[in-house]
Amino acid sequence: MNINMKMDFSSSLTSLLLLALSLPSEAGKCPRLCSCDSTKLTVACVGKNLTEVPPTIDEITVKLDLRSNNLQELPRGAFMLTPYLTHLNLQRCNIVKVKEGAFRTLGRVVFLNLAYNKIDILYQESFDGLSSLKELHLDHNRVEEIQPGAFTQLGFLNMLALTHNQLVYIPNMAFQGLNSIKWLRLSHNSLNNLAPEAFASLFTLIRLSLDHNELQFFPTQAMNRLREVTRLDMSHNPMIYLGEESVSMAKLTHLYLDHMSLQDLSDQALSDAPLLSHLDVSFNQLRYLEPLSGPKQLGSLNLTGNPVYCNCYMRPLREWARVGGVKLLGVCAGPPHLSDEPLQAVAPMDLRCRSRGEMLVDELEKEDENTESPPPTAKPKQKVKCPVNCECNTEAQHVTCEGRGHTKVPRGFPTKTQLLDLRSNHFHNVPASSFPGTSQVVSLHLEFCKIHQIEGSAFQGMKNLLYLYLSDNDLTSLAPGTFAGTPELTYLHLEGNRLAQFPGSALAVLPSLFVLHLERNSISTLQHTGLLSSSSPKLKELYLTNNTIASIAKGALGFSFLGTLHLDANQLLDIPTQALSEASNLEELSLSQNSIRWVGPNAFQPLSQSLKRLYMDQMGMEKMSKDALAGLGPGLTALTMRGNLLEELPDLSPLTGLEVVDLQDNPLRCDCSLLPLRRWMDNVSMEVTAICGHPAEIRGQKVKDVLVFSSCSEESFHPKEMVVAPRPRKLKKPKPNLSKGSGVKTRPVKPKVKLPKPSKNKTQIKLLSKTMIKSKKAV
Ligand SMILES: *[C@@H]1O[C@H](CO)[C@@H](O)[C@H](O)[C@H]1NC(C)=O
Ligand SMILES: *[C@@H]1O[C@H](CO)[C@@H](O)[C@H](O)[C@H]1NC(C)=O
Ligand SMILES: *[C@@H]1O[C@H](CO)[C@@H](O)[C@H](O)[C@H]1NC(C)=O
Ligand SMILES: *[C@@H]1O[C@H](CO)[C@@H](O)[C@H](O)[C@H]1NC(C)=O
Ligand SMILES: *[C@@H]1O[C@H](CO)[C@@H](O)[C@H](O)[C@H]1NC(C)=O
Repeated sequence: MNINMKMDFSSSLTSLLLLALSLPSEAGKCPRLCSCDSTKLTVACVGKNLTEVPPTIDEITVKLDLRSNNLQELPRGAFMLTPYLTHLNLQRCNIVKVKEGAFRTLGRVVFLNLAYNKIDILYQESFDGLSSLKELHLDHNRVEEIQPGAFTQLGFLNMLALTHNQLVYIPNMAFQGLNSIKWLRLSHNSLNNLAPEAFASLFTLIRLSLDHNELQFFPTQAMNRLREVTRLDMSHNPMIYLGEESVSMAKLTHLYLDHMSLQDLSDQALSDAPLLSHLDVSFNQLRYLEPLSGPKQLGSLNLTGNPVYCNCYMRPLREWARVGGVKLLGVCAGPPHLSDEPLQAVAPMDLRCRSRGEMLVDELEKEDENTESPPPTAKPKQKVKCPVNCECNTEAQHVTCEGRGHTKVPRGFPTKTQLLDLRSNHFHNVPASSFPGTSQVVSLHLEFCKIHQIEGSAFQGMKNLLYLYLSDNDLTSLAPGTFAGTPELTYLHLEGNRLAQFPGSALAVLPSLFVLHLERNSISTLQHTGLLSSSSPKLKELYLTNNTIASIAKGALGFSFLGTLHLDANQLLDIPTQALSEASNLEELSLSQNSIRWVGPNAFQPLSQSLKRLYMDQMGMEKMSKDALAGLGPGLTALTMRGNLLEELPDLSPLTGLEVVDLQDNPLRCDCSLLPLRRWMDNVSMEVTAICGHPAEIRGQKVKDVLVFSSCSEESFHPKEMVVAPRPRKLKKPKPNLSKGSGVKTRPVKPKVKLPKPSKNKTQIKLLSKTMIKSKKAV
């Protein structure tokens, strides 16, 4: 026993006496194995292997420290006998389960530490009764599930630590009830998905830590709800790009995006973060960055540890930083004469791309040097090797052997080559290990090479390959090992071949695959087994236009991150609702040019949370259920149904977010049944062209111009009343330019740029190649 020496004498004497007398009820004033301080009203029973909360703790205790025991389960009413507790420490107690109502009597506790236990589920009423709690430590547990309402009673909580748990997903409204929360810590989990309303109701949150998770995309929607957050830590998540308007957080000042895998950061990514003052993108893969629009008060931009290439493409950023007083941290990675130069120290004028003329002069000078006086003893300034019938541009790290009649893949490229252009040769077969010594190649072009077979491991060793172009060859199938050894492959072009099946097993070795082009092949069905999401967990865009797909098996589209799916010009007869229900993040879907005559009710219901753009042109569509678009709402920004056979349309009025709509070339029946559409057209601020096909006497006239609607019943339509001033729109982008007179008032938008663009260094390669070798599509 370890009686605190500060205890007053009589009290300790009494305790000793009572203990000596072994009167259990009185001895309870300080339980066996515990130490008590009756002036501070604290009890500590640390590291005693206790299996239950000692029942004899003095009722008036305010601080109870039970660290490092073996409690296992906290039953209902576990602390019933100590209602005055304010601090309770239950760290490392081997707690597996906190039963509902365990803390029900603890209305005065402000600090509760449950860290380093084995709790896996937070039940609905686990924390009931903790109505004064300010800090809750649940870190280092095994929490994988938060049940709805777990925190509803914690209206005064300021800080919730859930770091080092096993959360994968945060459901909608998970933190409901945390009405005073300031800091939410979710670092070091395995989060890969946040429901759109995961953080709804956190109106007071100022700081959010989401670092060290598995988020592959910035959770824009979930973050939108966090109006007061000023500091957001997202570092150490595997994101590779940040697209337009990713971050829409009005009060954000500090954003940490370091140690991710960013290859691209859209200049518009932060356009809705006006107060941002510190942006940390250190230790990413950024080679280039454009001036960021949005933040007006950016003080520092940390680019440390990025392979920033200081050429003319960086000049706008440098200039912008200078004018705006943005401190740039980090150094140039190249070109050689600027490498390791602090970005802040490089003058904008020094950021140059060299002209063709300069480069030719250089090359000539080099040759002169070599021919005139080759240093006899010293290592000769070696002329860079280059295979016969190829051109090697060492400055641009670019080799082209385009259209030179090669029948075998040449060998002996300069080791630093990044772009290898072998288009339009006649390889027919590509044997194993065809590309030795090309580990630096980022982009490989093999279009139009009459390739009908690629042997396993053909690309072995290309460990930096990001872009592979195999378009327009004669491939009929791909063996499972085809892409072995190219773990970084991100963009794969297989369009224009004769593939009869989705090459699922060949893709299984490509963990980074992000965009896959399979247009113009002969794929007739998408099988369940062919498309396992586990094999391409990052696949974001899948293009299957112009195949012969007639059916999609259930399970075939279970890519949790698939955002874009083009199935246009196939042979589908129905909307594949069930298969689509597994692509739960799909934003863009094209079904144009299939033969889908009839669209039934709720056809897109499973995509109602994610879908933004839906294209259904030229499908021979004759009828849509009035509930065909049920579930779709303000999230939908583009809808096209041009060139169908529709006489009626479903109600479009819930689609309040539309920016583009195309209804042209449908024989609409202009009678009172079309009144809702007519009204809706006046209610939206964009022009919508729709033409009457019936009745015959008004065929060809615009729905907007015909008078038939004025005679429609009671609810008849009065143009003057209905004309509403254009609503102020949130849109910051200009509306599509509505060219008068063409009759085309709407047009499909180009999908928003969301892809990581090829890095500008590669663009530079492209520009150089354009001038020097007149190639059309270098990267
Ligand atoms: C703790 O108690 C368990 C059984 O309740 C026993 O097996 C274990 O050895 C004890 N550990 C210590 C350190 O006393
Ligand atoms: C910039 O990033 C590096 C690496 O993450 C870090 O060490 C440094 O403190 C950052 N500098 C500033 C000013 O934030
Ligand atoms: C589909 O591919 C064929 C042959 O490649 C081409 O002729 C046709 O125009 C394509 N159709 C569409 C809709 O792209
Ligand atoms: C017109 O817009 C208003 C407000 O946005 C909405 O309440 C109303 O239902 C709309 N009317 C039609 C016919 O879409
Ligand atoms: C929009 O269209 C008008 C003519 O219809 C043209 O004069 C104008 O230049 C266009 N604006 C843009 C930005 O394309």
